[in-house]
Amino acid sequence: MSDILEQLEARRAEARLGGGAGRIAKQHEKGKLTARERIELLLDQGSFEEYDMFVAHRCTDFGMQETKMPGDGVVTGWGTVNGRQVYVFSQDFTVFGGSLSETHAQKICKIMDMAVQNGAPVIGLNDSGGARIQEGVASLAGYADVFLKNVLSSGVIPQISVIMGPCAGGAVYSPAMTDFIFMVRDSSYMFVTGPDVVKTVTNEIVTAEELGGAKTHTSKSSVADGAFENDVEALAEVRRLVDFLPASNRAEPPVRPFFDDANRLEMSLDTLIPENPNQPYDMKELILKTADEGDFFEIQADYAGNIITGFIRLEGRPVGVVANQPMVLAGCLDIDSSRKAARFVRFCDAFSIPILTFVDVPGFLPGTGQEYGGVIKHGAKLLFAYAEATVPKVTVITRKAYGGAYDVMASKHIRADVNYAWPTAEIAVMGAKGATEILYRSELGDPEKIARRTKDYEDRFANPFVAAERGFIDEVIMPHSTRRRVCRAFASLRGKRQENPWKKHDNIPL
Ligand code: HXC
Repeated sequence: MSDILEQLEARRAEARLGGGAGRIAKQHEKGKLTARERIELLLDQGSFEEYDMFVAHRCTDFGMQETKMPGDGVVTGWGTVNGRQVYVFSQDFTVFGGSLSETHAQKICKIMDMAVQNGAPVIGLNDSGGARIQEGVASLAGYADVFLKNVLSSGVIPQISVIMGPCAGGAVYSPAMTDFIFMVRDSSYMFVTGPDVVKTVTNEIVTAEELGGAKTHTSKSSVADGAFENDVEALAEVRRLVDFLPASNRAEPPVRPFFDDANRLEMSLDTLIPENPNQPYDMKELILKTADEGDFFEIQADYAGNIITGFIRLEGRPVGVVANQPMVLAGCLDIDSSRKAARFVRFCDAFSIPILTFVDVPGFLPGTGQEYGGVIKHGAKLLFAYAEATVPKVTVITRKAYGGAYDVMASKHIRADVNYAWPTAEIAVMGAKGATEILYRSELGDPEKIARRTKDYEDRFANPFVAAERGFIDEVIMPHSTRRRVCRAFASLRGKRQENPWKKHDNIPL
């Protein structure tokens, strides 16, 4: 009997060694942790339950039958993050470069099926040379199996991808279909075709880092939602994100104990808005001062800075925040910010996370670049996302809410539940100067007259009361009481139930 037990231990020890001590050392030399070390950091201590440790590939081409490594390049199973269940797969670069074989794919698919059935997120730690070259089409089939499961799981369970090494070719499309992608700076890259092919086809000379590193994907392409210094930081931050998310679309978002006063007043907010309406201020200050304990998990911080997206908690409950940022492009909506925020709003709605919107938007960004790029279609994404969302929606207009952008930014008209405005709010078709120049074109030669007209327009429209008189704004609130008011608003909406008409699915302008 003890022999058998020892054999099991020996087999386990062999499997845990992956590609062997030499390749593990190489992995460490690159500043990367191994697949198992990453899981240790991601999950609560001792909570990992591994499956399929002894699965091996079935390939017999290219002498592969001689080299079988238990686990076949991916470690899979489940564990907990702060006590809440998650499924995880972690590709092991020390085994055939983490490349994906038929059996490797089957292991991933197995835990994805379990995650959907049991209602828990999937976290994928990607570090792979791509399709297992020796397996050919069997590997491609394996990828497609994973892709299909990514799609069918979308909106059912949260899916998070962390790119911690190479991720190239068609392999990128699995992370691409998950809810969030995080990357590790300097040790990860993602691209459909690598630098060599790029050079051959387009004559562009570019490094892997420039083409598909963390900086590129967080600031240029928006493929990734965040980048971290190293494996340790990335995994710690993923744990932080998981704490905001419900286990599935069948579960409520997690409620945590909180140590902040829901009635906390922030007197400094009364002077947040500068005297000069064209002067920017930092909208992040409002977000941080509203959040429980000032804790904000920002999504896509380095992309389309004119809109801010991320998660906070109010009275211990997760809330998605979308906020115009006057510090960047005066807070205008444009193609990139509309796409960024639309995707975030849809995630929140899919997973029952209420949405708080802070508005200071002078309109859509003008220009041929925007129009040729399809700002009509992209702006419509955000409008569509807000309008279809049935989660509780609370909106606070701090300053400008002009034109179509007023409608888009979670206005009453597209089913926001509670709409507040600060006394500094200006809700109008456009700014006073622009409006006057159109209405009184014939008087443009007389600056005094125009100044008077502008002042009249400001007095009439540059305030929240015209909208409040119509009930489009439920209440004009003191800036210092914003946290208290939005906490109360969301508390009042906890029982909200709203259904959209039946449909197979909508046709959001993609
Ligand atoms: C089988 C692979 C592999 C692969 C790496 N290895 N990639 N084995 N299939 N795709 C093995 C290597 O043979 C080596 O084995 C070990 O992994 C480590 O690889 P190295 O090259 O030594 O590592 P490094 O120098 O860090 O380079 C990493 C790499 C490189 C850039 C990823 O290995 C590489 O270019 N690999 C091929 C990438 C590729 O072309 N993949 C197919 C892409 S097409 P030993 O035994 O020496 O340790 C694709 C399509 C997906 O993925 C389609 C989905 C629809």
